[in-house]
Formats: sequence, C-alpha cells, structure tokens
Amino acid sequence: MTAPTTARATGPLPLEEVDLADNDNFTDGDLPWRMLETLRREDPVHWQPEPAPNSGFWAVTRHADIVTVDRDAETFTSTGFTNLEEVDDALKDKRRSLLETDGLRHRALRTLLQRRFTPRALAPYETYLRGLTATTLDAALARGSFDFVKEVSADFPINVLARLLDVPEGDTRQLIDWGNRIIGNTDPDYADVLLESEDSERYRDLPFRSPAALEVFEYGRALAAARRGKDGGDLVSALVNSAPSDGVPLSPQDFDNYFLLLVVAGNETTRHAISHAMHALIEHPEQLRLLQRDPSLIPGAVEEFLRWASPVYHFRRTATRDVELRGKRIRRGDKVVLWFASGNRDEDVFEEPGRFDVTRRNVDHVTFGKGGPHFCLGNSLARMEMRIMFEELLPRIADIRLDGEVRRVRSNFVNGIKELPVTVTRA
Ligand code: HEM
Repeated sequence: MTAPTTARATGPLPLEEVDLADNDNFTDGDLPWRMLETLRREDPVHWQPEPAPNSGFWAVTRHADIVTVDRDAETFTSTGFTNLEEVDDALKDKRRSLLETDGLRHRALRTLLQRRFTPRALAPYETYLRGLTATTLDAALARGSFDFVKEVSADFPINVLARLLDVPEGDTRQLIDWGNRIIGNTDPDYADVLLESEDSERYRDLPFRSPAALEVFEYGRALAAARRGKDGGDLVSALVNSAPSDGVPLSPQDFDNYFLLLVVAGNETTRHAISHAMHALIEHPEQLRLLQRDPSLIPGAVEEFLRWASPVYHFRRTATRDVELRGKRIRRGDKVVLWFASGNRDEDVFEEPGRFDVTRRNVDHVTFGKGGPHFCLGNSLARMEMRIMFEELLPRIADIRLDGEVRRVRSNFVNGIKELPVTVTRA
C-alpha cells in the first residue's frame, strides 16, 4: 500500500501579517491555511480589526474552543447575525432566517423540516441521485478535457435540491444562477453588486445585500401559493402546511427567508466540497487508487473529504455578556467568529492534519458545526451527495489530471473553487 502523501508545505505566517478580514487573502490555496495555523499556535482567540464600518471580531481557531462556543448559544447568540456584516436592528428582523434565530423559535422553525433531512427520509432519493450523477458524469467524461466545476460539481447540488423542492426541471437553471449571485457576493465574477461596494447600501434590506434575493423570494412565494392546503411531499409544502410548535405561525417573511436559506445553504457548499475532494484526489493519486480498489472505503472517505474541503471558512456569533475565552476578555456585543476550517486542521485533534488520508478514522471534523443548535440541517444530504458522486465517478475513470490553473472564489466565508480544469482518461 502506498503511504498517504503530505499536502504542499505551508508553515505559519508572522502574526502581524495575518489578516482574515481581507478577502484578497483567500484566493491563494495556501495562505488561508497558513494564517489559521499561525493563529492556532500563537493567538487562538485573536482580535481581528476590520475596515469601517465594521468593528472587528474575535477569531476563534482551535477545535475545542469552536465546540465550546458553538454549544453555548445563550452566551454566543446567532440572533446578532452569522456573517461578518453588521446588520442594524431595524433590518435584523426583516432578514432573519432559521440561521439567525435562537431558542424556542429556532427549534420550532427547525422542526418544520428536520424530519425531511434524516438519512431515512432521504433514502428514497438515492436512485434519483444516482441517475442524475451518472448522466452528469457521462456527459462530462465524454469531453475528455473539461472544467470539473462547470461540468460536474456546479449544478449537481441544486439539481438535487430542486427535486426536494419539487420545482419544474426548466426552472433549475434559474435557481443555480440566483444561488451563485447571492453567495458569491465578494467575488466580482459572480456578484452583480459587491458586498464591499457603496452600491450594496441600496440592497441592505436583502440577505447578502443581493438583488437576486428579491427574485428568489418572488419565485418561492409562487410555489407556496400553489401548494398551500394541498398534500405535496416536498419541502415547500412542508413549510406552508404545518404549524410551528411554538404556536406562532410562519409569517410571509419567515417563509421568504427560510426558502432563500434552503436555496443558498446547500448549493455552493456541497459544490465546493465535491470540487475540493476531486482536487485532493488528483493531487494524491495513491489515495484515489485506494478508493478505486476498495469502494467500501468511500463512505468513510467522505468524512476526510469534508474535513479537507471545509467549504465554509467561518460562521459568526455575538457575545450576549462579558465572558472570558482562553484568557481573552470578550465584551458583550463583540463579534465572535468560529473558524471551522481552522478547527479541521487542529494539531491537538488530528494527527498530521496537513495530510490527506482517506483511511483516517473517526474524523471529528467541524465542517457542519459541532454540537450546537445550528448544526447543519442538510448534513446527511451533503454526505449522501458526495458518497454517490464518488461511488459513480471513480469506477468510470482510469486517470485524471489537472489541466490548467485552479481558480478560487474570492471570499473569506466560502472556501470555493471556481475552476478546476481536468483531463480524464475513461476506464
Ligand atoms: C458540504 C456541504 C455543507 C456544508 C459545509 C454546510 C455547512 C453548514 C454549517 C457550518 C452550518 C452551521 C451554521 C452555524 O453554525 O451558524 C450549516 C447550517 C445549515 N445548513 Fe448546511 N452545509 C452544507 C450542506 C447543506 C445542505 C445540502 C443543506 C440543505 C438544504 C444545508 C442546509 C443548512 C441549513 C438550513 C442550515 C441552518 C441550520 C440552523 O440554523 O438550524 N446545508 N451548514
């Protein structure tokens, strides 16, 4: 058996050169990891200043601290919003979704869909997913040389979600486009209005300050109107035809924001997880061959894919009281940012964290959060999509190589690959 190889040399960066607030530091494949390594070693709860109008944040980078904060939603609330953007009180209620709700209301909203996302509830979609994967792969592989993101990973997750939402196939393209424009709001290749630009002030009422959110709302409302009072088994029907357990009905705004969250949350994240896994397997061909020889390793390998990929760099909390964390005095109202990606490379938890090893056991990653109320609702779906993708892909290829530059999304929030040019020899 070939020994697993080590990823490109990284090495920490001088602390004074670390700047997690600068999106430009996140287009290079190594720099984010080097910055996070420095923080874990030298200043695991680090005050990161931000350009005005933002006020700076605490960067929490060790696995153990991430788990502590994630579990304690009373001290570290999500209701102050979960991205770095500071949303004023008047807008918070307008833009609030499940993700930015805590306590009883959060539980009530989450329960509306939780049962739909269990492995058992998702099992009936397996055949559909396998068929979709096979069609996608056969079309891509026939080209020989192609961009893996464009031809394989980009549209796959939203196609799956489109089935769960039961939207007409003809509308899926539009959903993909909206998802890209909303999430890629710090990358000029995707966004119509960049988050840092003055222009984005005009859209401050909207999630991610993206005008595309309006179109998604309108689309979701039309689906809701058509399904209210009927017995559909899709996610929209579940939302509009069941009552939240706290007795407070779902307002039109609650629905808008829930629908938009569903469209956005599972789209880019899963796409990038698949692209990163592919990239890692190309860079570590002996690992790819291990999985080809023994496909029963794939479900376990998915956990290492998720650790390695860390498609979401961070989510934010806000301190509800003065509190001390690893000797740092955090004040009420401070932003506290959980760097999940960093937790996934923590030397205290993972042996040789810079090694990509598909046979790694008990991979205690924090890719979906850890132990807190906001733990990713779609985690089983994402795992299933990744498993099926590689179960279908690996037997179809004899060889796969990089065929150009890997381009990354300019974002300190989404760890994304936007181009992965490959050349494939079919099996
Ligand atoms: C590899 C893919 C994915 C990654 C890395 C990911 C990551 C995350 C993370 C880190 C959170 C927690 C946010 C927090 O702590 O504040 C989260 C929440 C969430 N995710 Fe995912 N996710 C993925 C796929 C999906 C999919 C496929 C769906 C399905 C629609 C989904 C739906 C959600 C929802 C609805 C929440 C909010 C849960 C809550 O606030 O209670 N995610 N995700």
